[in-house]
Amino acid sequence: MKDVTAVVLAAGKGTRMKSALPKLLHRAAGRPLIEFPVRAALALGVAKVVVVTSGQEELDARLRAAFGEQVTTVVQDPPRGTGDAVRVGLTRVETERVLVLCGDTPLVTARELESVVSASRDAALAFVSALLAEPAGYGRVLRHPDGRVLEIREEKDLRSDAERGVREVNAGIYAAEKVVLATAVANLQPMNAQGELYLTDVVAALAPGVRAVLAVVGSADALVGVNDRSQLVAAEELLYARIRERLGREGVTVRGDARIDDSVTIAAGAEIEAGVSLRGSTTLGAGCHIDVGSVLTDATLGERVVVKPYSVITSSRVGDAAQIGPFAHLRPDSEIETEAHIGNFVETKKTRVRRGAKANHLSYLGDGDVGERANIGAGTIFCNYDGYQKHRTVIGEGAFVGSDSQIVAPVTIGKGAFVASGTTVTEDVPEDAMALGRVRQVNKAGYAAKLRERLSEEAREAKKKK
Ligand code: UD1
Ligand code: MG
Repeated sequence: MKDVTAVVLAAGKGTRMKSALPKLLHRAAGRPLIEFPVRAALALGVAKVVVVTSGQEELDARLRAAFGEQVTTVVQDPPRGTGDAVRVGLTRVETERVLVLCGDTPLVTARELESVVSASRDAALAFVSALLAEPAGYGRVLRHPDGRVLEIREEKDLRSDAERGVREVNAGIYAAEKVVLATAVANLQPMNAQGELYLTDVVAALAPGVRAVLAVVGSADALVGVNDRSQLVAAEELLYARIRERLGREGVTVRGDARIDDSVTIAAGAEIEAGVSLRGSTTLGAGCHIDVGSVLTDATLGERVVVKPYSVITSSRVGDAAQIGPFAHLRPDSEIETEAHIGNFVETKKTRVRRGAKANHLSYLGDGDVGERANIGAGTIFCNYDGYQKHRTVIGEGAFVGSDSQIVAPVTIGKGAFVASGTTVTEDVPEDAMALGRVRQVNKAGYAAKLRERLSEEAREAKKKK
């Protein structure tokens, strides 16, 4: 569709969000709202997208970062209505045909856009309508008894109950030749006290012409708009449901209410349980199983990775067939290699756990490198921070770190070395050596019984004194 430019109407302050952030930068299913209509338009293969804004810098910057040259912005100041917004947008249109849509309707799809553009090739103007059980608040599509579209009438201009009862509403998506639309908006008159120019008035102006105005009946989702935060959440739920459906068709099992951002990639054969959140640039390989309540943000998982319930993985990589959790926390820059295990209540940060290594219980592994097949016992702590700097712990291939050891970094434990349980390691341990750093145990025969006698006697004396 190289003869089409999309104009996205996105001016206005969005005051009902009660936020310093521009409304269209609020996120739904992981993306700023503005990106949804822009992506739908780009999916059509339009020549360019022009976004009409109120000049918010942050919105400009985000669009540049996400879409580069494909999107330009133009400022409408002050916002004097949708007709005026289109007039401003058209100043940046160089193609023969134009598609107009709204910035705050994230559920619009390329399918609706495609059908309205095709319809516009046989008409003066085409727009998308939808049939709603409760049409209140939307512009109504008024038709002649023979079915021709005559007019879109805004809610507050409706004149009778019969008109209010019309269930066909305007979705706010239009397509026409640029010259036709430019002439029609140039002739718009402000019809109300605020001096707003209604784009919808072009319908009544063009309807009597030689070529008809066509309404393409589309899905009601296309007009789900976001004005406040409850509508944002409602739109987001619909987006998540749509993503779950798509993944289901692509061979991914998604159970219950799992929330998977639009930007996440999942290979066929993966299974995602209820209450999981997959966010950002997360990528899952084939056969991964992500269990209940886990939250993965910008995580890259290989194939057949098992993430047990309630684990959190952020900006980290996990290799094939590794096992994580339950209740594990992989903080940024963790790299867990093939077949490694990170178990319950284990936290990692900026740490590489090499192939087949295991840390199964209650540990903190920060700024470390754990060698292949090494075993980190329960309760091991990498003491990586001295209050000023972070230091590294290196553990060699096949080394064994006994439970409840503290490794005071910087320190290197050699290949095949053995650290006895309860050791505080402050010096390097050579290859195949054993480090033992704890008080020697003493057993005193019969002492427990004597101790019990003495303590109970003391308790009796204390009671008498009261
Ligand atoms: C509009 C339609 C209505 C339709 C509804 C569908 C008009 C007059 N009415 O009403 O028939 O049923 O959408 O959602 O068009 N905008 C600008 N500049 C402006 C004013 C608005 O860019 O000066 C943008 C807004 O950012 C928004 C879009 O245009 O994305 C629609 O404006 P809005 O005020 O929400 O129109 P509605 O009252 O919803
Ligand atoms: Mg609206």
